[in-house]
Amino acid sequence: MTQHNLPWIDSFRESLENHQLIVISNREPYIHQRKGDQIEVVRPASGLVTALEPILREFGGLWIAHASGSSDLETTNARGEIDVPPSQPRYTLRRVSLTQEEETGYYYGFANEGLWPLCHLVHHRPIFRVSDWAQYQSVNQRFALSVPLDSTEKGSLILIQDYHFALLPRHLRHRMTQSQSPSRIGIFWHIPWPNPEAFGICPWNQELLKGMLGSDVIGFHTQYHCNNFLETCNRYLEARIDWERFSVTMDHQETLVRAFPIGIDPAPVRTLDPNEVEALKRKYQIHAEVVAVGVDRLDYTKGLVERVEAVERLLEKYPHYRGRFSLVQMGSPTRTQIPAYRALAEQLRSAVERVNQRFSEKRDSSVYRPVIFLPEHHDWEEIQYFYQMGDLCLVTSLHDGMNLVAKEYIWCQSAERGALILSKFTGASRELTEALIVNPYSIEELADAIAMAIALPQAERTRRMTAMKEKVRSQNAFRWAFSQIHTLLTGIETPGSLPKAS
Ligand code: F6P
Repeated sequence: MTQHNLPWIDSFRESLENHQLIVISNREPYIHQRKGDQIEVVRPASGLVTALEPILREFGGLWIAHASGSSDLETTNARGEIDVPPSQPRYTLRRVSLTQEEETGYYYGFANEGLWPLCHLVHHRPIFRVSDWAQYQSVNQRFALSVPLDSTEKGSLILIQDYHFALLPRHLRHRMTQSQSPSRIGIFWHIPWPNPEAFGICPWNQELLKGMLGSDVIGFHTQYHCNNFLETCNRYLEARIDWERFSVTMDHQETLVRAFPIGIDPAPVRTLDPNEVEALKRKYQIHAEVVAVGVDRLDYTKGLVERVEAVERLLEKYPHYRGRFSLVQMGSPTRTQIPAYRALAEQLRSAVERVNQRFSEKRDSSVYRPVIFLPEHHDWEEIQYFYQMGDLCLVTSLHDGMNLVAKEYIWCQSAERGALILSKFTGASRELTEALIVNPYSIEELADAIAMAIALPQAERTRRMTAMKEKVRSQNAFRWAFSQIHTLLTGIETPGSLPKAS
């Protein structure tokens, strides 16, 4: 049953027929957590989950991921599987349980203290420990064994997600050769790919590249990251780079490298009425005429301290906004075991305190605060309402593969009344050119952009928002997934051959 008004979905349903769709990611789409004597289902704050979940819900398939919730294994069957979404099952989630040692070395260590800062050029020194590398290698092996390989005529379509699994394509390729499975493998790298010099810092750079080249197709959000990847292969591998086909051939295996900009599910959003907006403001004690929203994981790549400093500068430089402007910053805690993340949370908390001490105002029955910081996880329903309440949205990442918050904010605008301030270091800034594009390292520029956004006439906001909404509608999660699948199945370019989204 097609739930979306996208005319080409049915033709893709046909091309998917007889192929089993298998997604592998570290983060799972549903996490079962124990809370007292209840088990609650949590939806994680994750761009890749946002984009992939609607695809699996629409077409079914198998999603293999790390069992990260405290009650995950209580809720699965003997094979570690559970049908999801829990309320209306449409596909199967297979959970792979990791020991604490494996999680520490592979996820916290190699993936998030090594590869994450290596690929995000934000002046955080990557840490590469031999022990983390050993866990990363062994967890990639374990996930490879968890993938069922279809040896029937058509085989499976295996979509591997992200930097947690650079070695997985090669392991799977090896198994496929042994079992003569005709399955096809794609890996999508959701974060930036740096230039060859930066990537060369990693002591195991060749192993990572060779691992990825076990895929038929490697995807990035932008052409710039594809170029960096090819140049990196050229620098470190004995491989043939074809700059015309944009491919790398090694050990007789050709891998296509392509840009597939990720998008969101263009499903309709419920519009809040003005009373509901007021109720939301009361609930969170938001007492300002103009509200900016920020929705992020508490990650040092997101430019959160810079954002708060920009609010401080705005109120210093444009005193008429004192008492009238507030930033509501939602921050989902993430990777808290890593010292750099704990340090960021501390730094952010003290910046918020400083700005609030300087500019808060006590009123008759309320207190005005310039920054309302909500450092907890919020569900999608509430996030959409915050997006609708926000007169503007701040996306100030210091470096970001795409950033789907920008697209979600646009999609949730009902009367196209909002304004988007967007870092030029996000993949999204390549598409959403009608946003107010900023350099988040310049606090002055950021403060001026906020002032400019507040003052933007409604007609101009509508013009920009309408243009961006059309791009978000068109370059959506389905298109992202289908472009990859199409390339995997046919080995040919997609943009021209993919029907236009309605
Ligand atoms: O988009 C990049 C990404 O690392 C995803 O892979 C991940 O799901 C998301 O950010 C959130 O990070 P984590 O899964 O480590 O909480």
